[in-house]
Amino acid sequence: STVPEAPAAPIGPKYKEEEEKPQATVSKPIKHSNVHILPQTPQLIALLTMIRDKSTVRGDFIFYSNRIIRLLVEEGLNHLPVISSSVTTPIGHTYSGVQFEGKICGVSIMRAGEAMEQGLRDCCRSVRIGKILIQRDEETSKPRLFYDKLPEDIAQRYCLLLDPMFATGGSATMAVEVLISRGVPEERILFLNLIASPEGIRSFAERFPKLRIVTAFVDQGLDEKNYIIPGLGDFGDRFYCI
Ligand code: PRP
Ligand code: URA
Repeated sequence: STVPEAPAAPIGPKYKEEEEKPQATVSKPIKHSNVHILPQTPQLIALLTMIRDKSTVRGDFIFYSNRIIRLLVEEGLNHLPVISSSVTTPIGHTYSGVQFEGKICGVSIMRAGEAMEQGLRDCCRSVRIGKILIQRDEETSKPRLFYDKLPEDIAQRYCLLLDPMFATGGSATMAVEVLISRGVPEERILFLNLIASPEGIRSFAERFPKLRIVTAFVDQGLDEKNYIIPGLGDFGDRFYCI
């Protein structure tokens, strides 16, 4: 007598009925057309869950942050212009494709923004990277500009501005003002960010309507010390120190 085979367990996106799947907290929506929030996929939410957890150790924090950063960079590159480009394949056929038009550079807001540089380098080999050192005053939350070093021809480049945390928006606003003062047109600035506060990102998007923002998540708000809630704490400390 043969034992009947058990039906195969469903796998893939249909592994469970929709109503049995876990319900996760997803990003607040933002209506401004220059704010692009990454698709709230199970993968992204699982990565964010790892880095938000206070018991995640530094090695894991770096690993999972880097995975989100990679998603941000890949999406950010979709916002750069392309021109038509036809190539001939090894079997002699033509493929009508595209290629990027124009030069780019990265600009990191130190210290936390430097954590995003490797993700950019992994996608754009030998990309030029400028630095702006801005630190938030711990008492007042006001940003202070200490240093900047930017590519000389930055005014001719698209700038990918890197900072994982956007709280009051003071630091990112100051960095954008530095870029504009060096001749970078607002429409060539693309801000890549992991977690943003809703109030901050709305007023930033209104103040710089031609700049584009790509973020992984818009959170609930800010606490009395201007930390993002639920947030993930101090990104720089968790990536570099703790
Ligand atoms: C953090 C973060 C942003 C800024 C966000 O940097 O990386 O730059 O705070 O806050 P805001 O939107 O209210 O300006 P911080 O100044 O703490 O320095 P760090 O990168 O050395 O941690
Ligand atoms: N900077 C951080 O690293 N985290 C916050 O929540 C706010 C500013």
